[in-house]
Amino acid sequence: MKSLLVLALGAALLAACVDPPAPITTPRTPPPPPVACTLKKPASCAGTIPSYEKDVLPILKRACFACHAGDGMAVEDHDFSKTAVALAQRSRMGVQVAACAMPPRQVPFAPADAEVLLMWTSCGGDEK
Ligand code: HEC
Repeated sequence: MKSLLVLALGAALLAACVDPPAPITTPRTPPPPPVACTLKKPASCAGTIPSYEKDVLPILKRACFACHAGDGMAVEDHDFSKTAVALAQRSRMGVQVAACAMPPRQVPFAPADAEVLLMWTSCGGDEK
């Protein structure tokens, strides 16, 4: 009987020495699922091709010039306030916009603006 008590005491002591339980992790909200990019380049160039001056430039001003003009962070190689640069990089713009890589997601960008830009980058750009 006495040995049993000793055993129980030993077991209790041993249990006390076991690794502490894993720290309680505070519940975390899972990260939001990535937003799918649903933009597409136009399947054909049928229809009105946007004009650079009238249709495209205002969109670039709204959605791109914060970084791609003036003292923006991306002017060194991509100053789109320079018409020649904007026209020369037209297809690169199309790639970026169609991939939803530009403008960066935090910048408001209307789907209608994306459509005009993509139509222009794919089909327009003859203006000099
Ligand atoms: C919040 C800032 C920001 C805005 C707004 C923005 N960009 Fe950019 N963009 C960048 C940065 C930063 C780079 C990388 C610059 C570099 O590599 O020199 C870049 C690079 C690019 C490039 C070059 C990518 C390549 O390698 O071909 C293109 C084209 C581009 N942007 C298009 C656009 C267009 C079009 C818009 C508007 C619809 C836009 N960006 C809006 C920050 C921005």
